[in-house]
Amino acid sequence: MGRDVIVACDFASAEDVFKFLDKFEGRKPFVKIGMELFYAEGPEIVREIKRRGHKIFLDLKLHDIPNTVKKSMAVLSRLDVDMTNLHAGGTVRMMEAALEGLTRPDGTRPILIAVTQLTSTDQESMENDLLIREPIDKVVMHYAANAKRAGLDGVVCSPLEAGKVHDVCGDGFVTVTPGVRFADGDIGDQKRVMTPAEAKKIGSDYIVVGRPITAAADPVAAYERCVAEFVD
Ligand code: C5P
Repeated sequence: MGRDVIVACDFASAEDVFKFLDKFEGRKPFVKIGMELFYAEGPEIVREIKRRGHKIFLDLKLHDIPNTVKKSMAVLSRLDVDMTNLHAGGTVRMMEAALEGLTRPDGTRPILIAVTQLTSTDQESMENDLLIREPIDKVVMHYAANAKRAGLDGVVCSPLEAGKVHDVCGDGFVTVTPGVRFADGDIGDQKRVMTPAEAKKIGSDYIVVGRPITAAADPVAAYERCVAEFVD
């Protein structure tokens, strides 16, 4: 699986996302569509971006009973996305059902990755709200191992966890890492960040980059800089 830069298209409308993508002219970045844009515009936004020739990571983080997740994944698979995700907290059986639903009649399927614990969940909220009393890094690695056991392709994790995930789950297990910032850029609300070059060194397979590209004065140049640091 080749390294790539995924641009988080966190826009509120189709109009805004197309205005942004039009700037790239010949280039076709891999784009992430999240809940906000998907819920605002529906599946047609996925079809339209796909028609324009982009690969798509549909970030909807499914978590429900196995049968519902299986059927929903079949719908997402028919949308021809390249990557999608779910919460590992839905159990191994839910993840197995998701894979079944995602697999097309010809045996192909999008890459399926798991969210372990959200980075907005800390040790205190995990213990108090979820009654999980193990250290959070142990929980994250356990969920990653469950995802691997269920047959998933990888996990979303911080770039700081990517090396450990590969140690536990193998080098072939994909790590998709947000929290990327340029060395001379604003970190904004991200707490633990890495540059694209550092993420490459530590072994991330995909970096998800939003505002350093979408809010840049020259988004195409910012994207090219990410590619130069991370992929080339
Ligand atoms: O703008 P920025 O580069 O911070 O965007 C990062 C993207 O990755 C956003 O779409 C954000 O929701 C997502 N993400 C994240 N941290 C996580 C999981 C997802 O920043 N732990």
